Amino acid sequence: MIKITESQNREPVFHLQAGDASYIFAVFHGFLLHLYCGPAISDDDPEYLLVRVNHDSVVPRPADTPESWFSPDIAPQECPVWGTGDYRPSALKLRYDGGCVTPGSSATALRYVSHEIVKGKPVIDRQPAVYADENEADTLIVTARDPSAGVTVRLYYTAMRDLPVFIRRTAAENTSTAPLTVERIFSASLDFTGWGERAELLHLWGTWGRERHMERTPLCHGSVSVSSRRGASSHHHNPFAALVSEKTTETYGPAVGLSLVYSGNFEIAADTDPFGSVRFMAGIEPTDFAWRLEPGETFVSPEAVLSVSGEGVGKMSRAFHRLYREHLCRGEWRDRERPILVNNWEATYFRFDSDKLAAIAKDAADCGIEMLVMDDGWFGERNDDRSSLGDLFVNEEKLPGGLKPLTERIRALGLKFGIWFEPEMISPRSKLYEAHPDWALGTAGRPLSVARSQYVLDMTRADVRDWLFETIAGVLSSADIDYVKWDFNRNLTEAASAALPPERQGEILHRYVLGVYELLDRITAAFPHVLFEGCSSGGGRFDPAMLYYFPQFWTSDDTDAMERLDIQLGTSFVYPASAMSCHVSASPNHQTGRETSFVTRGHVAMGGAFGYELDLTKLTPEEKDLIRRQVAEYKRFAPLVTRGDLYRLILPGDTMNGRAGCCAAWMYVSPDKTEALVTFVVIRTTVHPVYFLRLEGLDPAGLYEDEASGVRYRGDTLMRAGLNLTKTWRDGESVMIHLLRVG
Ligand code: DGJ
Repeated sequence: MIKITESQNREPVFHLQAGDASYIFAVFHGFLLHLYCGPAISDDDPEYLLVRVNHDSVVPRPADTPESWFSPDIAPQECPVWGTGDYRPSALKLRYDGGCVTPGSSATALRYVSHEIVKGKPVIDRQPAVYADENEADTLIVTARDPSAGVTVRLYYTAMRDLPVFIRRTAAENTSTAPLTVERIFSASLDFTGWGERAELLHLWGTWGRERHMERTPLCHGSVSVSSRRGASSHHHNPFAALVSEKTTETYGPAVGLSLVYSGNFEIAADTDPFGSVRFMAGIEPTDFAWRLEPGETFVSPEAVLSVSGEGVGKMSRAFHRLYREHLCRGEWRDRERPILVNNWEATYFRFDSDKLAAIAKDAADCGIEMLVMDDGWFGERNDDRSSLGDLFVNEEKLPGGLKPLTERIRALGLKFGIWFEPEMISPRSKLYEAHPDWALGTAGRPLSVARSQYVLDMTRADVRDWLFETIAGVLSSADIDYVKWDFNRNLTEAASAALPPERQGEILHRYVLGVYELLDRITAAFPHVLFEGCSSGGGRFDPAMLYYFPQFWTSDDTDAMERLDIQLGTSFVYPASAMSCHVSASPNHQTGRETSFVTRGHVAMGGAFGYELDLTKLTPEEKDLIRRQVAEYKRFAPLVTRGDLYRLILPGDTMNGRAGCCAAWMYVSPDKTEALVTFVVIRTTVHPVYFLRLEGLDPAGLYEDEASGVRYRGDTLMRAGLNLTKTWRDGESVMIHLLRVG
């Protein structure tokens, strides 16, 4: 709901209500000033929240503002612009070629012009975006203008009705007579004046094999930020951060999560000024961004999603999960149970042929697994990672007769069939590169950096995208293919395009991302029955924009169950379990050498879209029996895991009974609270360990039965006293407890 009232100055005050959260801002002498974002409040015009303090002369005042205390440098702004007195990080910086202002200058002053409310969420361009109909959301569009430079800015605010989520976006239109360059445009920026308690930034850092580890960092006077300049959202930081208080926990305290629906360079920053005001902002990272706008053209930022909680980060995460599951992921597979698959990567790497795949598939069918995925190595001369990307013709030495006979063989066993691609790449050793060296993204006259022996294709070019569409469509139509794993294994360097003029080279990194989106749009629309899984050397592009095309993403190349605890629980701060692809792999683990029991590997992998990634033909009959049981268990629990509410109970770094880092636990609860699944993992045991695990999310008045033991507990007892899990545990041992409401 969006309420509009008038302030004492007779200017609009906007109160957006989403679920049980409020977002309030006001027009003040033409400036857009932020007043509040947090758990719902009932005042529509809390004007008293504006801090009116006279500051000294180092704080500039605009000529047209009558109130002596007012300065853009201290005012809580909604869209802070560069060059007219707000020295904090700007949400918008434009450089003007001329028109009515000094050619080459960059000062902008925005003043409110008008607003409009629309039901639902308008589609404003083809970038990935949350969707909501007129019963699910309301959108406020505020227009502001710089009367001197002649630029018009539209700020989009969507308030979801049933979720505490606000979605923001910024569009800049060149309404002047001369070109201009957008040097910086953030999707959302909001200033928290009275955060009060010491604030922290909670974010997800990582690297290859160690993605999305949660970290909390106290804010300082100045900026604390996370970003990617790698041309992709990256393993190193996820495009998400939350502003929390030092006292915020899973279940207590304020949390405002900011997640950018974008797969390219991003920055999310929390900048604290000398008066304690925190500017929290997210947008495209500006280091190598310069977008040319001719008169009449508009640039639209990616969108930023704010999930607001007054009751800890758990609630913030659950709102993200529901939003991304039901309003961002799309297509036939959005709500369907995903097939339990076996992927041959860790089973064979590049050394496979049809017979080997058929042998794995036979054992898979025997164990109840539903799909075989053929990973890297099926095309060109790709027997290692040093050649053939771009040469997407079947290697008939490995797969005699091509894909069709293989898929028919797999299907005859009752299995679905999936295939791997890495479309955005080109190997220097490939037929494609021999024919089209200019299709590689790169700066002419400079040797190109290699990573995993490959270059990146210039996705800004329509001819490259057309060729990719035709080639991929050709493969997908050549046989019965149910699933695609879309990989992306290196980041961008020497970014330049042979197809763009000099004044547009600053657009490459963003154009690259838009080009990928366009191709994904076409491919996913042309093959609606195919289940697409994203991948980027594991989870190096696990971001909301990718979920718009792929309902699931390979979470990490590190398949070690203990490592996965940090990775999967970290990922769960933003992303739903349905989006996390998780596989049981061999022990000792290929990445860490650690040995973990088959049972625990299964329990951990059941935290997402479940599958296997090991050579089934080498397993013992007992292990195959275990797989049969795991498959049956997952089939029963999948609806709860993928559509239930997640409660993180113990993170791997938490302290339990005075011991840090000893265990991890989480649970899923059905929306009607009649069923729950608790997973508890002991990472590091000790002598006489005592474990009481307090549950969350149950009905305190409910009576719950542990399905395995038949023991009954009251919901309030489980949540307040806890489950007594005291026994002698071994390192890496785990349990899954299925609770059913019986009264
Ligand atoms: C990186 C992926 O993360 C792996 O799962 C595998 O598909 C390899 N690429 C194949 O090259």
